[in-house]
Amino acid sequence: SHSTPFVITLDGPTASGKGAVAQVLAAHLGFAYLDSGALYRLIALIALRSGWKVNRELSTADEAHLVIWASNLDVSFVGEDIFLGEENVAQDIRDEEVGNMASKIAVCAWLRAALLDRQRAFAQGTGLVADGRDMGSVVFPDAPLKVFLTASAEVRAERRYKQLIAKGFSANMDNLVKDLNDRDARDMAREHAPLKPAQGAYVLDSSDLTLEQTVDVVLKLCAEQVNVP
Ligand code: DC
Repeated sequence: SHSTPFVITLDGPTASGKGAVAQVLAAHLGFAYLDSGALYRLIALIALRSGWKVNRELSTADEAHLVIWASNLDVSFVGEDIFLGEENVAQDIRDEEVGNMASKIAVCAWLRAALLDRQRAFAQGTGLVADGRDMGSVVFPDAPLKVFLTASAEVRAERRYKQLIAKGFSANMDNLVKDLNDRDARDMAREHAPLKPAQGAYVLDSSDLTLEQTVDVVLKLCAEQVNVP
């Protein structure tokens, strides 16, 4: 209907290209963009700054901390910038350590619940492109278009490597492949909102597609959706 934003969910493993595809799509369609991974990364950054180590076993008290951090999270997305309070942390949250910590804390069901409303609030105006792991399965189960974007582990490690180098980080290919596989295994095996294609999701393997080609496929799917009587 006229008043309901058109939500496109774009889920998939790390470095599948979701982020880039989602941003190009959102800009092309004039839709809002939700980078849900950034929310988990922001909480991870707060945890790391509080002295948590990536190998920490989460206690019940830790989980309560995560919920409190999530409920009080003072974040604003301004174009490419991401502000935590007054501080632009867009670059800091891309660090691999932060990504690994994000995947660690993302197993916490209370944390996930605490972030639900904040994510749903992004569905405003004409439409939204929502990028994450559980956008189609949990956060926007009624979305008219759900895409699960994958790519082979090698292609993803290569993409992540280029991304990190381009952003001025150092990176090691062997470590990246290992981290990707560990992260995918953890994201897929967790009990709450595991990484898997949502019911009705279109599974798109982008290993052999360019960014533009991938965006094209999603735009075609979008057009088909809109034309359904
Ligand atoms: O997409 P990303 O690499 O920025 O996400 C970082 C981690 O956050 C990811 O490994 C798992 C978690 N995450 C999640 O559990 N659910 C989401 N919707 C998005 C991210």
